[in-house]
Amino acid sequence: MAREIRITPSILNADFSRLQEEIGKISAVSDLLHLDVMDNVFVPNFTFDFDSASKIIKESSLEVDAHLMVADVDHIAPDYAQAGCASVTIHAEATKDIVGTLREIRKVGSRSGLALKPASQIEDYVDVIDEVDMFLIMTVEPGFGGQKFMTDMLSKISRTRAIIGSRPIWLQVDGGISLQTIEIAADAGADTFVAGSAVFSAQDPAAMVASLRELACKS
Ligand code: DX5
Ligand code: ZN
Repeated sequence: MAREIRITPSILNADFSRLQEEIGKISAVSDLLHLDVMDNVFVPNFTFDFDSASKIIKESSLEVDAHLMVADVDHIAPDYAQAGCASVTIHAEATKDIVGTLREIRKVGSRSGLALKPASQIEDYVDVIDEVDMFLIMTVEPGFGGQKFMTDMLSKISRTRAIIGSRPIWLQVDGGISLQTIEIAADAGADTFVAGSAVFSAQDPAAMVASLRELACKS
């Protein structure tokens, strides 16, 4: 059976001064809005505090997939679930209570996501697989949009796909996804694709989402 493909555009490189307009450009053709939350501690960049993020979550015409790149993640992740995110992803490298936090996210009714930086190995997290609704394999070092897709992450994507087996867990990739890279990521087993600069620097962001989806579906 063909895998269901999801495109989750990241607004990191969108124009923050007219965010609703930017989201409106892609809402009809996208599955979720990927919201990158950075605290300038876990990553060397800052995007939103919780209050500003809550406002975006409340006003977004698309359901939100929050990617928390923050040090204090065990404390803040349940708040993002409470704020109405469809999905809340924590970094394995940031959490001190991986099972507890993933369970808290689910308890509120959001999907639980577990993200791995390029140096982290999926094999180290197999024992928490039953707590996870989505694995996020970073294909760049987290912190900035517009970086180059790391092809040496392809084997981690395939290994994650094999570990997932028949479980209904989504496999998301984030970083450098474009018309040039989406097919190889899909071939390796990804089914959920973050794309930031590829979408928001395109002349027609909605057409770009459609083209990315078409390529991913070919795999
Ligand atoms: C990077 C973020 C990404 C970023 C992707 O740390 O997690 O979601 O916005 O941007 P592109 O698609 O430009 O690599
Ligand atoms: Zn992200």
